Formats: sequence, C-alpha cells, structure tokens
Amino acid sequence: MTVYLVGGPVRDALLARPVMDLDFSVEGDAMALGGMVARRLGGECTGHRRFGTATVQAGDIRIDLVTARRETYAGPGRLPEVVPGGIADDLARRDFTINAMALPVWPREGGLIDPMGGLNDLGTGILRVLHPRSFIDDPTRMFRAVRYEQRFGFRIDDPTVELMESAISDRHMDAVSGDRWRHEIDRILDESAPGPALLRASDLGLLAGLHPALANGQGLLGLTTCAGDAPVADEWLAALFSPLSVSEGDAVIRRLRLPGRRAAVARDTIDLRDIEPEVMSASRSSSGLCRLLSRFDHSAIGMWAKLAADALLREALRQFLDELRYVRPSLSGDDLLGLGVPQGPMIGQILARLRDIKLDGEVSNVEEERALARALLARCLKGATT
Ligand code: CTP
Repeated sequence: MTVYLVGGPVRDALLARPVMDLDFSVEGDAMALGGMVARRLGGECTGHRRFGTATVQAGDIRIDLVTARRETYAGPGRLPEVVPGGIADDLARRDFTINAMALPVWPREGGLIDPMGGLNDLGTGILRVLHPRSFIDDPTRMFRAVRYEQRFGFRIDDPTVELMESAISDRHMDAVSGDRWRHEIDRILDESAPGPALLRASDLGLLAGLHPALANGQGLLGLTTCAGDAPVADEWLAALFSPLSVSEGDAVIRRLRLPGRRAAVARDTIDLRDIEPEVMSASRSSSGLCRLLSRFDHSAIGMWAKLAADALLREALRQFLDELRYVRPSLSGDDLLGLGVPQGPMIGQILARLRDIKLDGEVSNVEEERALARALLARCLKGATT
C-alpha cells in the first residue's frame, strides 16, 4: 500500500496551524488499513464500502482513510460514483487547490505532491477551484469556500466567484438535499467567528440561492456590527430568520430540514419580533416579563437582546436572560410542606406566586417570604373550602 497524508492536515501544517484530524489517502484498501490502525491504537474503525473509506476513532484521535479514487457525478448535486485510482486522481477530484496537496508517508519517499499549485495559492491567500464544473458537481463547495475564506483570511479568486454566480443562477443549488445544506451551515456555525462567512454567503447570493426569503441579510449585518458578547451559534441561526415572515420561516425550516430545537429557535425569533409591543408592556413588571418570555428559546431572546432597535427592549431581554430567569423563591417545596401546605398542585402554585413576588421586589428576606407563604396557604385553603 502507498499512503499519503492529504487535504486539510497538509494545508494546516503548511499554514503552521494546529492539525486536528488526520486524513490519509491510500493506494490500496483503506478499510483494511483502517482496521489495522484501529487495532494498533486500541480504537474503533467504521468503514463505508460504497466510498471505500474508513474512520478510526481512538480517544480524541480521529483518522480518516480514503481509498485513492476517481469520482464521476451522475448529475449536478448528486453524490459521486467512485472508482479506485491513484493519488493524482484523488487530488484532482477535490474542491480547492489548497486542499489538493499530499505528502507521502508510507513509503516515505519524495516531498509534497502539489499538482494544482496549492502551495502557491496558500502563499498568496487564494481560494481557487480545480475545474469549471466543480460547483455544478458539488454546490456545497460554495459554502466551503466562504468558510475557508474567512477562516484563513483568504480571497476567493474572481473566476471562482464567477463560477459560483453561474452555479447559483442556473439553480444547481436546488439539486442538493436540505440535510447536506444544513450540514454545511452547521460547519460555518462551528467556526470561531461565523458572522463574516455568513455575510459573505449572503453577499454572494448563496443564502438567496438556498431560499429566496434568505436574500435579506439585515439580521446578519446587524449582528455582525453589534457591540457586546460574541453571538453564540444559535444566535446566528436566529439572525438568519430575523427578517422573515412566519410562512417564509416555515419554508426555510422545511428547505433545511431543521430539527426540533433549531426549528424552535427559528420560529421563536420570528414570533418574538411580532410581539415586540407586548414584550415592552410586560417589561413594566419583572414577573410579567418572565411569564411572557418563559416560553421562548433563549437563543432567540439572546439574538434580539443584541439586535432589537429599541434600547429599552434590548435591556429588558438582557435582564431576563442574565438575572430574572434564575430567580427562585428562597423557600423550597419541602419548606412549604413543613408549613403545612398539602402535597399536590398547591405546592407548585404557591412557589410560582412566591417567585413572582420576589421578582417584583415585594419581599426582601426569607422571613417575609415565609409569612407570605402562610397567608397564601390560608387563602388557598379558604378558596378550597368555599
Ligand atoms: N472535499 C472536497 N469536496 C467536498 C468536501 C471535501 O473536495 N465537498 C475534500 C477536500 O480536499 C477536503 C477533504 O475532502 O480537504 C476532507 O474534507 P473535510 O474533512 O470536510 O475538509 P478538511 O479540510 O479536512 O476539514 P476542515 O474543513 O474542517 O478544515
């Protein structure tokens, strides 16, 4: 077997960046080699026969092995058909020149294999596809391009941008499943600063290519320029949905097949915007604000706490997230039992009431709370008997 270190780790080593995962290309049987490596490292090997690939996981070490291969695409956006080939084929099927370099590790003969000029492009900071059909074969590469561009501070070269524009206008993005798009967006959200890559995707028309409603990049722009803590991944997701109508939001959720909680982030973002006046009037009392906001996803609230136009609204949302939602009564359920509250729903009702009263600053110590609990109990019992 001939084994090469290939793609991401070669690129990252040349950039003197930390190498996280190891990718190897094997002229030979990658799955058999994967099994041997796993045994040697005491890890697990998972193989995919259709693609001739294997993944070895040993503790935090992850090693991907592919059988060097040639790829053909049966149609735009389809998954490739693969046939075994040599390292030259394996490099020629890849996305960008900077990812199309290899280093022989077994046998360790010869230096860097760089048929596409990747090293030069790494030096000048250029992202360039290997052939004009690249984005037609695999439109997800367009998102990869903006991800690498922002991560490395590179620039997508003009002919590559033009190829993107025609792949988008020829609607090749439609051929790719929502799951695959979601995966690419997630990979952008996993970057240390997703904002600039998402904005670039918006400027290049990539988001609009996913769904026309995503053409409005106002939310992204606002979140990129807002002061304060860096947004978390789900807040970026929320920003994408922030200018959408309910029906547009549902259409994008369907297009990306967003699973439950992420769909909730998206829907809550839109709903919250639509009830802004209610939030403003509820914020006159802390308990009212908590009651209204408790059903909304925290990332949706967090995004509006950064993006809302009204400073008072931003302040109210921030206060809910940072303080109010953590407020609990000083007394516990057990304490209430000790005061004679019967086991059952009354415990929860009195605790909720105590929490509201504490939120609104109407009790200042546990003694006052206890006195209030007794009064509430008396009232509840009276209510129960009348
Ligand atoms: N690749 C490709 N086209 C894709 C996906 C991947 O050509 N749509 C190739 C690239 O050569 C890439 C390699 O497969 O370097 C491995 O893919 P992946 O692990 O996604 O990329 P890395 O560059 O290793 O990882 P990262 O993007 O996280 O740095």
